[in-house]
Amino acid sequence: MKILLMGPPGCGKGTQAERLVKELGLTHLATGDLLRTEVAKGSEIGNKASEIMKSGALVPDELIIQILRARLEAGGVEEGIILDGFPRTVEQAHALDHLMAERDGGIDKAFLIDVDDAELISRISGRFSCASCGAGYHDRFKKPRTEGVCDACGATEFVRRPDDNPQTVAERLKVYHKQTAPIADFYEKKGILVRVDGEKSIDDVYVDIRSAV
Ligand code: AP5
Repeated sequence: MKILLMGPPGCGKGTQAERLVKELGLTHLATGDLLRTEVAKGSEIGNKASEIMKSGALVPDELIIQILRARLEAGGVEEGIILDGFPRTVEQAHALDHLMAERDGGIDKAFLIDVDDAELISRISGRFSCASCGAGYHDRFKKPRTEGVCDACGATEFVRRPDDNPQTVAERLKVYHKQTAPIADFYEKKGILVRVDGEKSIDDVYVDIRSAV
């Protein structure tokens, strides 16, 4: 099974992927996370990507395709994958077709999680995650069960992303509408696009995605 989760920043791609991984045992491949790992390592790729990510722009197609190809070749993806945040341009969508053709077949479903811009800004500004295991939370919508303690691993330190400030979020939304939204057509034409109302609760969005998988 190969699933794409698409949609604007803050629509819930990572949140839904976390749940699908737990239930279906698929491997979660989030290009934003792969980039943040490179930035944290201080690698050449990470150094190139860091300033671009802080600005809210997309990193160049050839760079992100190279990272994804390397991750697929590293293995551990035999049970299936959930791609989160890739593709983000028409060029990346074509590259993904080639990458999948080299393996065993194409994408089964492409979910587009739709959310209004004003709601996205509110979601992103309240988001934080566990500094130890990365579990995601929100000031209003998804608080840890015990304040200040991660539900998943018990750690007590949390972090917020440097690109979650209002200026960068505005740019990320602009980039999404211009460069990424058009790829919905690409998957619609293939007959595998599923539109999901991302303004429902986290549980209800999950039910909609799960029932279409
Ligand atoms: P990336 O890390 O992919 O960020 P993004 O697409 O902007 O998406 P987010 O991770 O911000 O949001 P999400 O949809 O996962 O939402 P979440 O589940 O966290 O990319 C970062 C940067 O890397 C890009 O700007 C670019 O520079 C670069 N990059 C990455 N991939 C690239 C590519 N392919 N090509 C080029 N550049 C690339 O939810 C958000 C919050 O809302 C959470 O707090 C959550 O608890 C809450 N929430 C979720 N669902 C709901 C709900 N239904 N109701 C209420 N609250 C909810």
